[in-house]
Amino acid sequence: MVRLPDALAKSADTLRLVVRVAALSLRFPRHPDSLWDEFWRGVAAGSLREAVIWEANAGGEMGQHLARLAGLLDTGLPIVDLGCGTGAPSRRLAELFPAVVGADVSPGAVAAATSASAGVPHLKFVVLDATDPEAVAGLAGDLGEANVFIRGVFHVLSPRRQAALARAIDPLLGTHGRIYLVESNVPGGALDYLRGLGATGRAIPAPLRQAIATLPKPGHFGAQQRGRAFPAGHWTVFADGATTLETAPMQDGGSGVTIPAYWAVLGKRHN
Ligand SMILES: C[S@@+](CC[C@H](N)C(=O)[O-])C[C@H]1O[C@@H](n2cnc3c(N)ncnc32)[C@H](O)[C@@H]1O
Repeated sequence: MVRLPDALAKSADTLRLVVRVAALSLRFPRHPDSLWDEFWRGVAAGSLREAVIWEANAGGEMGQHLARLAGLLDTGLPIVDLGCGTGAPSRRLAELFPAVVGADVSPGAVAAATSASAGVPHLKFVVLDATDPEAVAGLAGDLGEANVFIRGVFHVLSPRRQAALARAIDPLLGTHGRIYLVESNVPGGALDYLRGLGATGRAIPAPLRQAIATLPKPGHFGAQQRGRAFPAGHWTVFADGATTLETAPMQDGGSGVTIPAYWAVLGKRHN
């Protein structure tokens, strides 16, 4: 049984954490796409100096994705990395697929991805809102039938934009293309997510403080949210399951954290 002083200490810590997060998140309401671009420009300019939390650079996590992709997708088709950020996953996808297009809503991210990928063959980057059906259909027209890879994008979108993203992807897939998605899916509420990354009422790790202060608030994306975004009448789930995402180190000289996540491979239902 939890002793009363422990329970009180935990409640006091939670209250301190809530106040810290609220203070960090205070800003005029902004469109999430603008927040993303300001974030990526700040990272490139060095005004945002902390590690980008989802950029683990360790490689073990991406190896798991590549193994699933090799088994479950047609690796003869090109692949589009939607919400590619600075392109680290796109560069690994280029090891397996004949052509890779990384697409991001942020021109700052696309500029950083392009310069970090100089010399990687069959890889290019474009600026595109992946929830915009016309923009995605235009890419489909240029590329022909393709697969889609998505890491850590659905969980930063509102449910309305999650459904718009799923609908927009449709023309990219043609007949044989499939979607591989992997999204953080931490059980519990926002505070559990923050505690999992090392936050307490006394201190929030610097990379997390930077993310809270600058980015849209993330949510869950698991089987339930996937079912809402990809209605069963139109989509087939070929495989899904629990996995983990790796983060960058939360402290100088420390190691990354693994956070609970959800992956799935989907395709269009052909009746
Ligand atoms: C959490 S980051 C993940 C980046 C990358 N997939 C990775 O795993 O390193 C989310 C990315 O999605 C991009 N993004 C957010 N909304 C988007 C949209 N509507 N269309 C395209 N990209 C979007 C952001 O700019 C950001 O680069």
